[in-house]
Amino acid sequence: MSEAAIELVELKKYFPVSNGFGKGRSYAKAVDGISLTINKGEIVGLVGESGSGKTTLARVILRLTDITSGTVIFDGVDLSKATRAQMKDMRTRVSVVFQDPASNLNPRETVLSSIMRPLIIHGINRKDAKEMASKAMSLVKMDARYLYSYPHQLSGGQLQRIAIARALVMNPKVMILDEPTSALDISVQAQILNLLLDLQEQLGLTYLVITHDLNVIRYISDRIAVMYLGRLVEFGPTQEVLDNPRHPYTKGLMAASPILNPHDRGREKYMMEGEPGSLINLPSGCHFHPRCPYATERCRTEAPMDVKISELHQVNCFMAE
Ligand SMILES: Nc1ncnc2c1ncn2[C@@H]1O[C@H](COP(=O)(O)OP(=O)(O)OP(=O)(O)O)[C@@H](O)[C@H]1O
Ligand SMILES: [Mg+2]
Repeated sequence: MSEAAIELVELKKYFPVSNGFGKGRSYAKAVDGISLTINKGEIVGLVGESGSGKTTLARVILRLTDITSGTVIFDGVDLSKATRAQMKDMRTRVSVVFQDPASNLNPRETVLSSIMRPLIIHGINRKDAKEMASKAMSLVKMDARYLYSYPHQLSGGQLQRIAIARALVMNPKVMILDEPTSALDISVQAQILNLLLDLQEQLGLTYLVITHDLNVIRYISDRIAVMYLGRLVEFGPTQEVLDNPRHPYTKGLMAASPILNPHDRGREKYMMEGEPGSLINLPSGCHFHPRCPYATERCRTEAPMDVKISELHQVNCFMAE
């Protein structure tokens, strides 16, 4: 049995939203009861349309924002009950790379200062910190001379390599990559994805890769988690899910992904209609029912439970029962 790096149990994050004129409050339910286990050494890809709550989920795992309810268990430690020392330790062992290369680095600082900052904060002396920064640069295959550059002097691909170096400098076990290649040219995207795959193997890392691009998921991830309006609708081994998607939303995403399946040309495609709904006024029953061509009365009134399709493949849909 594989060991869990991260376990999420019924995790919820609701943002209070003012209704104006003191009419009380409602909530944007960005993460609405997500349970998910990421095993050590695996790559899980999280996919879903804009606004489905992916970045919020990452921020909750990283404890950049408070949890509304539920639990994050990191390497066996329940973070809601963690001591200060355990929390500090967790912060060095989980790192993050965000989408926009520039937002990962301070524009007024040299690359060296940006990479060294987390080390200095953790009380490492400057000489050792500099050595660790140089080592991180060689891991991402960047010449050490770039340590003295400023962000504006570097290309998007170089900046993203440096953001990865910065995320690696504390020797993390887990990396959360939020749209790591979305801002890059297609050719540079491939280089960064290959670098990430090499690093994962070389350092035995665990990744949660967030993207709206199914091609990225197919290329990089062992398992795929599909998120729709704050909930997981399908989760399973990447190839199995892409070969045999069971949730209508997963099917819709695949149909909307132009180069995913060149062999599918000509096969009847079902195009998803409408916009993802609002997290504030969530549909009753199954969140996807207003866009689902197969929705029945039951879908409008009752929320489906997860159904196991196989040992590792689960789907949140009545049709799978
Ligand atoms: N700090 C906040 N305060 C209030 N609402 C927020 C906050 N952060 C996020 N939200 C709400 O949560 C929703 C989900 O946002 P999130 O950034 O997690 O989506 P996402 O799936 O990452 O989208 P994208 O693909 O565009 O990055 C947003 O639509 C927004 O309404
Ligand atoms: Mg996001």
